[in-house]
Amino acid sequence: MCGIVAIAGTETVANRLVDGLKRLEYRGYDSAGIAVRAGPRVERRRAQGKIVNLEAVMAEAPIDGLMGIAHTRWATHGQPNEINAHPHMSGKVAIVHNGIIENFRELRDELQADGRSFESETDSEVIAQLIDKNMNDGMDAVDAFEAALKKLSGAFAIAAIFADDTDLLIGARKGSPLVLGYGEGEMFLGSDAIALAPFTRDVTYLEEGDWVVLTPDSHDIRNVNGERVNRPRVQSAVNESLIERGEYDHFMLKEIHEQPESLARSILPYIDQATQTLNLGDVADKMFAGADRAVAIACGTAYYAAHTAKYWFEQKARLALETDIASEFRYRNPVLPQTGPAMFVSQSGETADTLAALRYCRQNGTPAVAIVNVPESSIAREAAAIVPTHAGPEIGVASTKAFTAQLSVLAVLALNAAKARGHLLPGEEVQAVKSLLALPRKVTEALEAQDGIRAIAETLTQSRDVLFLGRGRYFPLALEGALKLKEVSYIHAEGYAAGELKHGPIALIEKDVPVVVIAPMDELFEKTISNVEEIRARGARVILISDPAGIKAAGNRADHVIPMPEGDEISLPVLAAVPLQLLAYHVAVAKGTDVDQPRNLAKSVTVE
Ligand code: F6R
Repeated sequence: MCGIVAIAGTETVANRLVDGLKRLEYRGYDSAGIAVRAGPRVERRRAQGKIVNLEAVMAEAPIDGLMGIAHTRWATHGQPNEINAHPHMSGKVAIVHNGIIENFRELRDELQADGRSFESETDSEVIAQLIDKNMNDGMDAVDAFEAALKKLSGAFAIAAIFADDTDLLIGARKGSPLVLGYGEGEMFLGSDAIALAPFTRDVTYLEEGDWVVLTPDSHDIRNVNGERVNRPRVQSAVNESLIERGEYDHFMLKEIHEQPESLARSILPYIDQATQTLNLGDVADKMFAGADRAVAIACGTAYYAAHTAKYWFEQKARLALETDIASEFRYRNPVLPQTGPAMFVSQSGETADTLAALRYCRQNGTPAVAIVNVPESSIAREAAAIVPTHAGPEIGVASTKAFTAQLSVLAVLALNAAKARGHLLPGEEVQAVKSLLALPRKVTEALEAQDGIRAIAETLTQSRDVLFLGRGRYFPLALEGALKLKEVSYIHAEGYAAGELKHGPIALIEKDVPVVVIAPMDELFEKTISNVEEIRARGARVILISDPAGIKAAGNRADHVIPMPEGDEISLPVLAAVPLQLLAYHVAVAKGTDVDQPRNLAKSVTVE
């Protein structure tokens, strides 16, 4: 959630740290701060709000040095003000922290009983105080850091620097990722490879429990037991061009428009193009052939991808797929499949609840399959198998291209399951593969509706509530459309199964409540159109998202129509995501909200 970047350098670091922070701002934007070792002292600058505020503070009161740490915060404990902003300092030490220190109250009480006073309300400050106390007790920086680490419980990534002649940068990870970067005579730490993209692609992903002692030209990695260890040094896939906004006004718009390529990247590795067949082979057989049922667990948008897949697994593969929100699943002592897999869907691969649900399944002997966008993430590392999406880095806080990539990979898995279970005849397989391969082109067509969608979006800016309806495989899309709208425009929106309308939500229908209906032509189309009639009879405005056959059949029964290309039961839900994303985006732009960094949200939710 929070972002960390740190440099042990041979050139001045302040501006470079701020540059790294800007890449990380999507992880949290309640406050930002930097601390730099300047001669014998550590100096710090902090500001509430976004990084531009920190830059203004630094312009007024510049600091610089060769070693520093920086942080962008998503508040957990304590208000998002300057006092609670990181870095936190105590005596000679300054630290930045991502995650939650669960035992901070006990530690704080102990330290206070020892005569120490605290500046902030955060859980993080105990880390600085503990290290400082240990140093006052006579330990050197490394021992003081290690001893402090042993007292912390919870999830964290930490970076620390020291005043005086202690030329060290020390970092640790437990539960939150930390990446070590190698430069020319310099070393870096970052909470993900994106933070380090301006400096280096030569990285080591620290493992759970690792901590590392750095100087500008050395690194010493220790494991949870304090033993020196070697971890693989790899080239990160993130390059700067992938994380630039380019010609687009917002990352969200860029990422919506990237979907033809991100879908192609996500689908092609799972297809044998020469034979137009699926090529997951043995893996799918092992996972699905003898499965009694399967579960799919995720949060937010990723959950709606899993929910859509339920329809595909059940209809195509005749395999019961139970889907659940990770934060519910992990605590309800769920009954797991006997012989089927548990699938975990996550863009970041770091979502705390999804990771905890995965650990629950592992402990209970259910094979965990990760459908993740970050192959180095914790969820990917801890799963028995990984089926990556290849959406590329997603910077906009509202998920768009990661969602369609998740849908496409889940579709591949459902079709493989159908094949492994004898429910996909060879002719059907070729047809299904053709449909998957056509998706990038069809998404390009779906994007052409943008101007019409912008015009409709402008009519929604004054709405207080918007309802989204869909039936069958379009029900999860209604949920996702509502989530996207509320996230970026702050308009209250709810998604419902169209058949549920009469069981309650219809009470909300009145003239000023627009209803978005997702209904491409299918076996349920007429039923959904009956719901449209019920809505219009009560004076509400209907915005219909449909394919050419659906639009024709609906005639003049909708007030506005958003066209989408024709497709089949696999491709249509993916295609329906595009107008929903564009609608949310253009309402937000018309309302003037902060599209890429909506209030209170952060990407990669590493706390419960
Ligand atoms: C919504 C959104 C969130 C995420 C959710 C899970 O636009 O981005 O709902 O989908 O926080 O995140 P991941 O996929 O990283 O596990």
